[in-house]
Amino acid sequence: MRVFSGVQPTGALHLGNYLGALTQFVRLQEDAECLFCVVDLHALTVPRNPVELRRETLQVASAYLACGIDPAHATVFVQSHVPEHAELAWILGCISTFGELGRMTQFKDKSQNEHNVSLGLFAYPTLMAADILLYQADAVPIGDDQKQHLELCRDLTQRFNARFGPTFTLPEPLIGQVGGRIMSLQDPVHKMSKSDPDSNSRIGLFEPADIIRQKLRRAVTDTGREVRFDQEVKPAVSNLLEIFSLCSGETIATLEARYADSGYARFKADLAEAVIAKLEPIQARYREYQAAEDVVRVTLRQGAERAAALASETMATVRERVGLLGPGD
Ligand code: TRP
Repeated sequence: MRVFSGVQPTGALHLGNYLGALTQFVRLQEDAECLFCVVDLHALTVPRNPVELRRETLQVASAYLACGIDPAHATVFVQSHVPEHAELAWILGCISTFGELGRMTQFKDKSQNEHNVSLGLFAYPTLMAADILLYQADAVPIGDDQKQHLELCRDLTQRFNARFGPTFTLPEPLIGQVGGRIMSLQDPVHKMSKSDPDSNSRIGLFEPADIIRQKLRRAVTDTGREVRFDQEVKPAVSNLLEIFSLCSGETIATLEARYADSGYARFKADLAEAVIAKLEPIQARYREYQAAEDVVRVTLRQGAERAAALASETMATVRERVGLLGPGD
């Protein structure tokens, strides 16, 4: 089985990214051939400061490695290092319709109240489809918010294969069972998000312990004072219980029993220590990679070489199928 997933180099990674996506990536690399890509071309769909983009690309790659993605098991690389992504995105764009791209909810959300909506933002899902199809991925770990894009990718796969002959593997979504929906600490009906203007809503993967304690102290809770898992009645406390369970490895039932009558303050204080303990080794490794950026760069170069070998094979077939004249034809 081959797995592909991408993370945008925009903003610092947070606990939701870690518990939702990255831990799943680390598990998957044991049993599947994995490619994990820092999708810098996707980041360009909204205006970005060039210096920051370059820095964040390296940071996300370092974070992948710090979280336990092992380059001996998985291919870690930067999207723009393999130019075939953009080439295939163009070809897929030519079989995508204006109507279906306009129906993407992420596009509708991001383009609302914007005057200068870029073609790149509109075509974002065709680039994402290219990422996946270039490597003939069987499975794609994604969050709920990317389901519609993957559905479009599957439509394009079938359309291309029907029109030009079997070329691409039809990818399946892998939606995480646990930790897939870590919610905001300030508003538990919304996912923890990089783009939330309120930084108290999330815990950064690389934030110091005292900030983590402070943010969890400030986290909203629900009415009543008992610590109980009930997503309908107690969405905030349920979210905190889920975070606690994923960080400490204890079951939610164990935690409920321990904290049932202890009040929110005690619960949150212990939760903070569990989160800090979970993040500490990741933060230590991240600092090591930051001190040895060359190691990260070499990993990315080797990753791009491996990815490029697969990508060029797919593209040779694609060019031939759609009727592009090869220079050697
Ligand atoms: N669109 C994804 C996101 O914002 C990132 C992404 C780009 C991706 N290409 C991908 C995810 C391919 C999975 C597969 O989360």
